[in-house]
Amino acid sequence: MSRAAAVVLSVVAVLALVSAEDPYLYFTWEVTYGTIAPLGVPQRAILINGQFPGPEINCTSNNNIVINVYNYLDEPFLLSWNGIQHRKNSWQDGMQGTNCPILPGQNFTYHWQPKDQIGSFFYFPSLGMHKAAGGFGSLRVHSRLLIPVPFDPPADEFTALIGDWYTKDHAVLARLLEAGRSIGRPAGILINGKSGKDAAGKDDPPLFTVEAGKIYRFRVCNVGLKTSLNFRVQGHTLKLVEMDGSHTVQNTYDSLDVHVGQCYSVLVTADQAVGDYYVVASTRFVKQVQTATAVLRYVGSTAPPSAVLPEAPSGWAWSLNQWRSFRWNLTASAARPNPQGSYHYGSINITRTIKLANSRTRVDGKLRFALNGVSHVNTDTPVKLAEYFNVSDGVFKYNLIGDVPPAADAAVTIAPNIITAEFRTFIEIVFENPEKSIQSYHLDGYSFFPVGMGPGKWTPESRKAYNLLDAVSRHTIQVYPRSWTAIMLTFDNAGMWNLRSEIWERHYLGQQLYVSVLSPARSLRDEYNMPDNAIRCGAVVSLPLPPSYV
Ligand SMILES: *[C@@H]1O[C@H](CO)[C@@H](O)[C@H](O)[C@H]1NC(C)=O
Ligand SMILES: *[C@@H]1O[C@H](CO)[C@@H](O)[C@H](O)[C@H]1NC(C)=O
Ligand SMILES: *[C@@H]1O[C@H](CO)[C@@H](O)[C@H](O)[C@H]1NC(C)=O
Ligand SMILES: *[C@@H]1O[C@H](CO)[C@@H](O)[C@H](O)[C@H]1NC(C)=O
Ligand SMILES: *[C@@H]1O[C@H](CO)[C@@H](O)[C@H](O)[C@H]1NC(C)=O
Repeated sequence: MSRAAAVVLSVVAVLALVSAEDPYLYFTWEVTYGTIAPLGVPQRAILINGQFPGPEINCTSNNNIVINVYNYLDEPFLLSWNGIQHRKNSWQDGMQGTNCPILPGQNFTYHWQPKDQIGSFFYFPSLGMHKAAGGFGSLRVHSRLLIPVPFDPPADEFTALIGDWYTKDHAVLARLLEAGRSIGRPAGILINGKSGKDAAGKDDPPLFTVEAGKIYRFRVCNVGLKTSLNFRVQGHTLKLVEMDGSHTVQNTYDSLDVHVGQCYSVLVTADQAVGDYYVVASTRFVKQVQTATAVLRYVGSTAPPSAVLPEAPSGWAWSLNQWRSFRWNLTASAARPNPQGSYHYGSINITRTIKLANSRTRVDGKLRFALNGVSHVNTDTPVKLAEYFNVSDGVFKYNLIGDVPPAADAAVTIAPNIITAEFRTFIEIVFENPEKSIQSYHLDGYSFFPVGMGPGKWTPESRKAYNLLDAVSRHTIQVYPRSWTAIMLTFDNAGMWNLRSEIWERHYLGQQLYVSVLSPARSLRDEYNMPDNAIRCGAVVSLPLPPSYV
C-alpha cells in the first residue's frame, strides 16, 4: 500500500471512532404516471414527485438514505440503484430477484448507505420496460470532509443524464418483446429529459450556466435503453476525474464515449469567449446518427451557439483506444481503503475463470437473449427470498450454466439463471460477445477491474496484455462487437446480485443472471438479515422467519 493510502487509512480509522452514527437523509417519493412530450409527441411517463427525470439524491459517503416510495401506478414497481454496492445488503437492491414488487397503492421504504463509496450514479425503475418511461434520476455521492479529493472544488456541479428515448409507451414496448419482436430504433436522444429543441428547431433555454474563468463538474450518466453515446462540449475540453465511483488519472479528452449504464465526471473550464455553446450527446455505432443538444451559457452571453457541432469520433477502434487510456489514480484516496488489498489486484491468484457468451436466438419463433445457453426468467418468489427461506428447490436450480459457453448452435433453455460464487474468492470473468452489436454489462453489489479488452476470441494468451496495475475499478463495462472483455473481482459482498446486459431489451428477454454469494458463517458480520419491512410474495408469504444471522 502506498504511503498516501496508509495515511488515508488512519484518517478513516479516526473518523470511524468519532462518528457515532452516520447522518440520515429522508425522502418521500410518490410515483405516478404523467404526460410528457420531450420529442414533441405526448406520451405516458413515470414521474417521481411529479418530476421527469426524478429528483436528484445529493449525499455523502456512508449517509443513511431512507426513501419511502409510494407506488401510485396501476402496476407493480421497483427502483434499483445503479452502482450502489449495498454492502451485506442485497435486500435493498430493488431487482426482481431480490425484492418483491411494490404493488399498486402500496409503499416500501428503502434504507441503504453508499458505504465507503464516492462518485456519480443513478437510480432507475427495474421492472418490465419501465425504464423506457422515465422514473430515473441522478445520485451524487460526495467524499466526506477530511477525505481529500484529487481536484479543487468546482464552482458548481451539473448533472447530464443522457440516453436514447422511445416515443412508444413502455407497455407497448414490453408487448413487442413478449411477442418475440425487437423494440427497434429509438426515436431520439435526451439530455436531462429534453431533446434541446422545440418543434420549430429553436433551442430550449440554457440547461447550464457558467461564469467565465471558472471550473465546473459535469456528472454524465447514460440512462438509456440500448445506445452508446458520445458526449462533448462545443469549444471545450473534458478533464476526466471520476468514472463509476473511482477517481481516475486526469486525462483531457475532446469527447467521451459513454455506454449504457456508465457514469463519468469531467471538469470543464469556462475558458472560451463569453457566449453560448452546445453540450452534445450523439449516438455511436449506428448507421443513422441521432443527436441531442443543450445550451451551456456564459453569464453575460448575447451570442447564440455556433450551428456547427463538434464532430463525433467514428468507428470502434477510437472507442477501444479511449478505454485503454483510462487509468485509476492509485494515489488518490478512495472513500475507503480497498478491502483485501485489491490495490494489488494484479497479484491475487485467480481461483476461477467464468467465460460468459451472449447469444441472440429464437425459441418457439420468439426472440430471446441468453448467457451461456440459458435465457433468464424471473420467478414469482424473488430468488433471494427463496434462498433465505430455504425453499429454492421449488423455485430454481443453481448453476444450470457452466463456466464455459456451450457450442454456438446448442439449444437455449429458458429458466431462472442463478450461479453460485464462493465467498471471498477472486474470480476472472471473460465476457465474449460473438454478435455484431455492442454489449454493456453491469454487476450489482460490486465494482470490478476491467483488465483487458480485444477483438476476436479470448484465449489464455490474452492475459499477457492485461492491465494488472491501474485498471479503473467500475460497475459497468462495454464489450465491443465480436470482441471480449475480461474483468476481475473479489466476491466479498454476500448477497444475491444481478449480472445483466444493460441493453434493456436483452435484459428483458433473458440476458441476465444472478450470482448467489453466501457466507458459510450465516453471520451478521457478512450479511444483514432480511429487513422487517421486506415485502413478501410468492412461496414465502406465510412462512415463519428462518433463524436470524447472528
Ligand atoms: C450537495 O451536497 C454537497 C455536500 O454536502 C453540498 O456542498 C452541495 O451544496 C449540495 N448540492 C445541492 C444542490 O444540494
Ligand atoms: C409505508 O409507509 C408507512 C408510513 O410512513 C411506513 O410506516 C411503512 O413502514 C412503509 N411500508 C414499508 C413496507 O416500508
Ligand atoms: C492523483 O491524486 C493525487 C492525490 O489527490 C493528486 O495529487 C494527483 O494530481 C492525481 N494524479 C493524476 C495524474 O490525476
Ligand atoms: C499464487 O499461486 C502461485 C503459483 O501457484 C503460488 O506460488 C503463490 O504462493 C500463490 N500466491 C498466493 C498469494 O496465494
Ligand atoms: C433446507 O431445506 C432442506 C430440505 O429441503 C434441508 O435438508 C436443509 O437442512 C435445510 N437447511 C436449513 C439451513 O434449514
